[in-house]
Amino acid sequence: MKIVHVASELFPYVKTGGLADAVAALSVALADEQHEVAVFLPGYRQVLEHPDVAHATRKLRLKIEMGDDFMSGHVEVFSPRPNLDIYLICRDEFFDRSNPYGTGQRDYEDNAERFIFFAKGVVNTLRLTDLQADVVHCHDWQASLVPLLLRVAERRHDLTLALRTVFTIHNIAFQGVFSESIFARTNLPEELNNIDGLEYYNQISFMKGGILFADQVTTVSPRYSEEIQTEEFGCGLDGVVQARADDVVGLLNGIDTEIWNPSIDASLPARYSADDLKGKAKCREALLNSHGLDPKFKGPVFGMVCRLAEQKGIDLLLDNADFFLKNNCRLIVLGKGEERYEQALHDLVAKAPDKIAMSLVLDEAMSHLIEAGSDFFVMPSLFEPCGLNQMYSQAYGAVPLTSEVGGLADTVIDADKDAKSGTGLTFLPTKEGLGDALLRALKLYGDKPRYAAVQRRGMKRDFSWKSAAGGYLELYDDIL
Ligand code: ADP
Ligand code: GLC
Repeated sequence: MKIVHVASELFPYVKTGGLADAVAALSVALADEQHEVAVFLPGYRQVLEHPDVAHATRKLRLKIEMGDDFMSGHVEVFSPRPNLDIYLICRDEFFDRSNPYGTGQRDYEDNAERFIFFAKGVVNTLRLTDLQADVVHCHDWQASLVPLLLRVAERRHDLTLALRTVFTIHNIAFQGVFSESIFARTNLPEELNNIDGLEYYNQISFMKGGILFADQVTTVSPRYSEEIQTEEFGCGLDGVVQARADDVVGLLNGIDTEIWNPSIDASLPARYSADDLKGKAKCREALLNSHGLDPKFKGPVFGMVCRLAEQKGIDLLLDNADFFLKNNCRLIVLGKGEERYEQALHDLVAKAPDKIAMSLVLDEAMSHLIEAGSDFFVMPSLFEPCGLNQMYSQAYGAVPLTSEVGGLADTVIDADKDAKSGTGLTFLPTKEGLGDALLRALKLYGDKPRYAAVQRRGMKRDFSWKSAAGGYLELYDDIL
């Protein structure tokens, strides 16, 4: 099968969150199954600086219609492994910047134009290179105009660019909603600027376009596919998703076991497995050491790695600050994001620097060490489309504490409710819910044989993309 993915992030070239890991691991899994896979990505500065791109093999010139103007760009192509080609849609004005989406404080003001250019660049490249895709699979709002632009281009030029299109919602909270004036830059027929098209409360919603016009819509966990059809989780698009309910399916992400696997993880000071956990003790010492905490500490170490955003339940963690101050435990947080959370965590560390530590940076290697060195991993998300860290933490033997939402509910089994198959501790995302789970964690840690059983069960679960990619292949087959 010829499968084209379109996304705004791809590990290891550009990553701000799980989207990068998910698209990369799915593409690799499909390529390894001998499918012909192409991934389209904006040619961001950091991607072009990656050593792999020095081996780019082809270049295409692009001339993209943007309203009344034409904008030029070009395409670079490289192939990091067999059956996998990566196409970079380049235009320095849009993508030669320090970050993919914004300055950290604010989104770039021309994001609508940047991602219209990207989407049109993808469609033009499909046309110019005659890729003949069976499936064009687009991810999140940055790629969500592709299914519609592609069908319009097919009609205009009387050709077939893709047999089927798929749109995956990784996070419905980010929708790409812009001023109505941007519609003209899409060059789409005016009748699509209405309630049955991209119009959304007198603005333009990119994500709405993906949901309405892709042949198939997917989300990254079964639970989330139900949740986003409710007012509570739909972020205003619940009605639109409901309208496509027959074509919406939730397929759980997997994890890349070449990268997230403690028995081969080269970034760790020692490797380990469910059958031999000695290496994990070394990782724990190294983790405590790296944060200036006593490496010989005997009580439980709680770890957390996430974007510092409301979604991740940072408020619930802060509401439970007393737990960490009063009990014999350690907390280590790796995160970057909203200033109010960075400040609040900073203040919390100042209250007990011998017990609580944090790094306010993006640090891929440290994210591995936290999974490896922690006894528990805290993930009190208010909503979570899938979530990867709860799977990483099960694989790394850091028993996850997760709220019962989205993909977290689909991947973690509460050990107090299900003594035979429990792999973590789950709770409703409230202050009390997390508070109770933290107390239960202390109790579990005090019962060493029970803790070890829960930990080992998690480590033995199969979250690999091999099975997850199978779900996508079945879906592609069905819709074709
Ligand atoms: P989301 O995509 O909503 O941020 P996920 O759980 O799907 O949540 O994925 C988050 C990914 O980003 C994980 O791979 C996690 O390890 C990584 N990550 C988050 N914050 C950091 C950080 N400060 N440094 C390194 N990696 C991080
Ligand atoms: C989004 C979601 C996260 C999911 C990731 C990959 O960023 O917030 O829950 O795991 O996409 O699909």
